[in-house]
Amino acid sequence: MAVLITGGAGFIGSHTAVEFLNAGYDIVIMDNFCNSKPVVLEKIKEITGKDFKFYKADLLDTASMDRIFEENPDIDSVIHFAGLKAVGESVAKPREYYHNNVTGTLNLCDSMTRHGVKTIVFSSSATVYGDPDVVPIKETARVGNATNPYGETKVMIERILKDIYVSDKEWNISILRYFNPIGAHKSGLMGEDPNGIPNNLMPYITKVAMGKLPVLHVFGNDYDTHDGTGVRDYIHVVDLAKAHLKALQYIEKAHGIDYFNIGTGKGYSVLDIVKAYKEATGIEIKYQIDPRRPGDIAACYADPTKAREMLGWVAENGIFEMCRDANNWQQKNPNGYEE
Ligand code: NAD
Ligand code: UD1
Repeated sequence: MAVLITGGAGFIGSHTAVEFLNAGYDIVIMDNFCNSKPVVLEKIKEITGKDFKFYKADLLDTASMDRIFEENPDIDSVIHFAGLKAVGESVAKPREYYHNNVTGTLNLCDSMTRHGVKTIVFSSSATVYGDPDVVPIKETARVGNATNPYGETKVMIERILKDIYVSDKEWNISILRYFNPIGAHKSGLMGEDPNGIPNNLMPYITKVAMGKLPVLHVFGNDYDTHDGTGVRDYIHVVDLAKAHLKALQYIEKAHGIDYFNIGTGKGYSVLDIVKAYKEATGIEIKYQIDPRRPGDIAACYADPTKAREMLGWVAENGIFEMCRDANNWQQKNPNGYEE
């Protein structure tokens, strides 16, 4: 039996591939490298000492998707990461985002159906909660007020998967709503490698730590939080990767469709992260306070009780390890996955 990992060359997919290989699973990875590089595949092999099949393919290319299932009849489940994820870009290019993420997922589900594969773990996001009424956020919180097309694609895909399940109860679907994944593999061989100037906090900080960017712009210090800066639930990417293992093992037994918050349950402000980075690495991050970023919310953190009770998953790494590993990756790979 094998697991197809879509988007397995990406940040979270590559770390998840390592955890599945280490756990003894056979995997097949597909990716079109629109936001990743082929060298990642070598890193996965180097870390695990294991081999796997890879397909350079696009979710939107139905024939290629069918070929993957035809040539690998042992695939019996899918971990679905492939998608576009840049919030700002999604506002500028909504058609590309809806097409790639929503049509791409429909194509994948069609191909799965044609080949009798009905088990899927899907990468959703805390963004489906929009600006939450209360924190910590439970899975039962209101969903659907995403503030941008990227977030809408997650809301829509969650809805599509639910309707697929309603139409055919043989499907097993696990929807993981990630909070803020950061960190890197502790080997320093794999990590996050955004194109251009990073939009997200931790990749920006690691670049400031390297001297590649002069100063961190803190987007607002007048939020209703303990120090006025935005509060988020940061989760180590390896803990997140392990959640997929637990989620797959769970739905294979429990069946049905279910939703899980994947976070630590702890909220850290931007200034908390700057302080933690210094403690973990000894590096002082220079920062300046700037205006709020449009679309940002004050605080967003998970109630991860359901994942603990039902999946038996808890985050093992804290903010110290997240900062340490993100910094280690960046210092060892100043230019990311340079080829
Ligand atoms: P990533 O961009 O590093 O990985 C996504 C991978 O999918 C990339 O390798 C990309 O080349 C591939 N891909 C995109 N469209 C494709 C297509 N049409 N066909 C084949 N491959 C395609 O992103 P990530 O951070 O690893 O995120 C993985 C998933 O988790 C995404 O669905 C993302 O929306 C979701 N997610 C990420 C975060 C985060 O902060 N990183 C938070 C919540 C949810
Ligand atoms: C962003 C996305 C969200 C996505 C998530 C994880 C937006 C509006 N939302 O969320 O949809 O699911 O990433 O990929 O982009 N910050 C700074 N300076 C920076 C960068 C960030 O002060 O240079 C602050 C932000 O204002 C926020 C916190 O740091 O308070 C975290 O920001 P970020 O890493 O971008 O994640 P989110 O805003 O939570």
